[in-house]
Amino acid sequence: MGMVTEAEYRRISPADFFYRNRDIAGFSNPTRAVYSAIREFVENSLDACEAIQTPPEIYIRVTAKRPGPGTIPYSLLVYDNGCGVPSSKIPHCFGQVLFGSKYLLQQTRGTFGLGGTMAILYGQITTNTPAKILSSTGGKWVYEYKLFIHIERNEPIVLDGYPKRFGNKDGWHGTVVEICLTGDYPRAEPKVLEYLKRTAVTNPYATITLADPKGRLYRFRRVTTRVPKPPSPTKPHPHGVDVETLNRLIGLATREGCNDLLRFMTKYLHRVGKGTASRFLKVVGLPPDTDLRTLSPSDVVRLAEAMNRFDRFLPPKADCLSPLGAQLLRIGIEKELHPEFIATFNRRPSTYSGHPFIVEGAIAYGGNFPPGITLYRYANKIPLVYDEASDVSWKVVRELINWGRYRVRQDAPVAVITHICSTKIPY
Ligand SMILES: Nc1ncnc2c1ncn2[C@@H]1O[C@H](COP(=O)(O)OP(=O)(O)OP(=O)(O)O)[C@@H](O)[C@H]1O
Ligand SMILES: [Mg+2]
Repeated sequence: MGMVTEAEYRRISPADFFYRNRDIAGFSNPTRAVYSAIREFVENSLDACEAIQTPPEIYIRVTAKRPGPGTIPYSLLVYDNGCGVPSSKIPHCFGQVLFGSKYLLQQTRGTFGLGGTMAILYGQITTNTPAKILSSTGGKWVYEYKLFIHIERNEPIVLDGYPKRFGNKDGWHGTVVEICLTGDYPRAEPKVLEYLKRTAVTNPYATITLADPKGRLYRFRRVTTRVPKPPSPTKPHPHGVDVETLNRLIGLATREGCNDLLRFMTKYLHRVGKGTASRFLKVVGLPPDTDLRTLSPSDVVRLAEAMNRFDRFLPPKADCLSPLGAQLLRIGIEKELHPEFIATFNRRPSTYSGHPFIVEGAIAYGGNFPPGITLYRYANKIPLVYDEASDVSWKVVRELINWGRYRVRQDAPVAVITHICSTKIPY
């Protein structure tokens, strides 16, 4: 008889998972780590400012902790004048993976509850120093935390003596995050600058300043204080629901005392009125007054499938989106790329699987971009830098359009800018 070895079974926490697989979250090497950390904090800051319709004032400071070259420890500080984080939520927002305020159905840069926290985790595992967070929502106090992430448990560890609080006479609101991480800043710098420049194109109402380790200052100055209208959260559209979403919504409805199928459809789903709901239920063959608590698992499957198929629901509204609009796009391009000619376009909202999306774009000629056609791609105002060739806009620009027909030479300095905003971006 062969030896039977006991397998060892255990469970790991989400933080532990991302610690082991940090390349998934963009922290695969010392160059990429610096770039990703800056990017994650800046995106959080931009979201936080837009949430309160404030023109962002973002300051990034990178300081070397000892002389280079190569991979050395850096201190990274990112300041913003955004909404701030309530004191009681700070430890979880920054010390727990998959915790955040952006799980609603509305357009934001952040979606996972992961990015900024991963930067903190990376800093911790490379330098064994705590993250420092200073924040105020504009109330009486500014709070300061120092914390570690307990990676095996996915929990914040707040250091003794914290939070500290300071009076906030001026009503300041915003957040300052400071971490130490090892990385290779000089190698990351070209990508960081390119990222900031591209970000400045779609955020012309933001001023972003970077102080690099040599003390050089790069400033991307705002040219307008007009911030796009913020998105408002929406309910799931029946074309996009699956069995799990439907089960959750039914659970929520019954907890809130709504047990009637017809009323449920009009109250918990996006753009379903009484008339449409009645017609829909007739097609499915369920009486409108069916008690939600009596639905069997197969009824729910049937409902979800029928909802996805039924073609008489109104399309989702686009107010959960926050596009830039032609004017902001134009001034963003003018300010960063200085072209001689720009044309912009804004498509009407459209939908994919129950998620609304808007495409806007521009073409520019003669700016300070290299000869040939340069493609600038954005999703929810974030520049996309990877996998360009798998993007449909790349195929259109490089393969489908016959530029010669428009008398655009191969080496003409042309930039094509595309921006898609949606509650679901299939990255
Ligand atoms: N500068 C900030 N101002 C206000 N809130 C912030 C700031 N940075 C982080 N937060 C809060 O912390 C949460 C977690 O941030 P984190 O970057 O880890 O995830 P996320 O932004 O929700 O999603 P993603 O993984 O896509 O970045 C955010 O959802 C937000 O509530
Ligand atoms: Mg984030």
